[in-house]
Amino acid sequence: MKQEYFERKGNALYCEGVGLREAAEKFGTPLFIYSAAHIKERYRNFEEALKGYPHHICYAVKACSNIHILELFAHEGSGFDIVSGGELQRVKEAGGDTKKCVYAGVGKSAEEIESAVKAEILYFGVESVPELERINAIAAKLGRVARIALRVNPDVDAHTHDYITTGKSENKFGLTADKAEEILKGFSEKYKNLKAVGLQVHIGSQITETKPYKTAVLKAAEFVLKLRSQGTELKYFDIGGGLAIVYKDEDPATPAELVKEVLPIISELGMTFVCEMGRYMVGNAAMLVTKVEYVKENPDKTFVIVDAAMNDLIRPALYEAYHEIAAVEDKAETFVCDVVGPVCESADFFRKDMTLPKVGEGDLLAVCSAGAYGFTMSSNYNSRNRAAEVLVEGDEMTLIRRRETYEDQLNCEKTCR
Ligand code: LLP
Repeated sequence: MKQEYFERKGNALYCEGVGLREAAEKFGTPLFIYSAAHIKERYRNFEEALKGYPHHICYAVKACSNIHILELFAHEGSGFDIVSGGELQRVKEAGGDTKKCVYAGVGKSAEEIESAVKAEILYFGVESVPELERINAIAAKLGRVARIALRVNPDVDAHTHDYITTGKSENKFGLTADKAEEILKGFSEKYKNLKAVGLQVHIGSQITETKPYKTAVLKAAEFVLKLRSQGTELKYFDIGGGLAIVYKDEDPATPAELVKEVLPIISELGMTFVCEMGRYMVGNAAMLVTKVEYVKENPDKTFVIVDAAMNDLIRPALYEAYHEIAAVEDKAETFVCDVVGPVCESADFFRKDMTLPKVGEGDLLAVCSAGAYGFTMSSNYNSRNRAAEVLVEGDEMTLIRRRETYEDQLNCEKTCR
């Protein structure tokens, strides 16, 4: 198994000490099942790699924002990378320290900025001049000083899917170094209610190599030196997120390898190392368990129709992403099939033309590596209730999100009558 805390015992699949069938029978399907041990281990891998050096590890909430998962990070002492007022609210609800939050995103609304200034977040990752002016005005209104880090777009290709590349000049993210330099000239006179404390470069997601990070960090380091010569001192060097996980046969860099490449550059500058990993922390912490509804034999194809769909895990439809699929109970005989959901779209598939143990109605399948951008990107398309989520710790499983009901779905509309 590519997911360390999932294994086969006999012919059945387990998450830590809990059988996937047992969990599915107790809570129904589709069901996201997460390993707490995996998440803690991943966080600690970064802590270990950065030991002895000033650092601040943030977890990118967007990858998986269940408050019980956020609690695990809060207990580890993690900071949080947020991108909305909703995510800030979740961090608060989970008992996370808002003073350890960094806030990214090109479109922060006035309300969102106000709540983050009040929560005294560590810094706003600023992406444009109008945004800077808005944060300054809101901080002034509140009689506060807000900390900011400029997000610089280093124009580096992260060699990942186009939709999740963010550090190229054609992408909407960040400021050019020239623009950032212009902003920082006379900054304290222009922006009396802001303090510039850092620099951020986030170049993309599912990045397997250390090289694009190094290129981006070197470019940003050069910029830091230039700023220094002009009298601007910044404390935080934020490399963003993006470290890859294994979905299929990737061989991604480890946190230790990444840190080894970039930390010398940052430590030379004497700055605090900040990172904002999401997928690395939770991607391989979960599987999506789903039940076979029908096996449909067409003349030239066999379809295994399951009760999970693109509304539960949109990555295959959106990015043609590869997710391994395993039968919860292994079988000797196999067949070639498409694994598809019940939604009325041809994009509603998990895998096409795959060799799968010969399952039938009522059998369970597990869609692997579903922890990051799985539940968080799910929707109610086709008026389907969103899935339940379960957290496993050793032999114990805890429901951390109950399955939605039709009543939940209708509530926002019925209350408008
Ligand atoms: N920091 C910033 C500013 C980001 O925009 C992101 C992700 C992260 C950190 C965390 O990146 P990670 O470590 O998870 O790669 N839905 C896509 C991924 C979108 C990533 C968006 N930004 C997917 O399913 O592949």
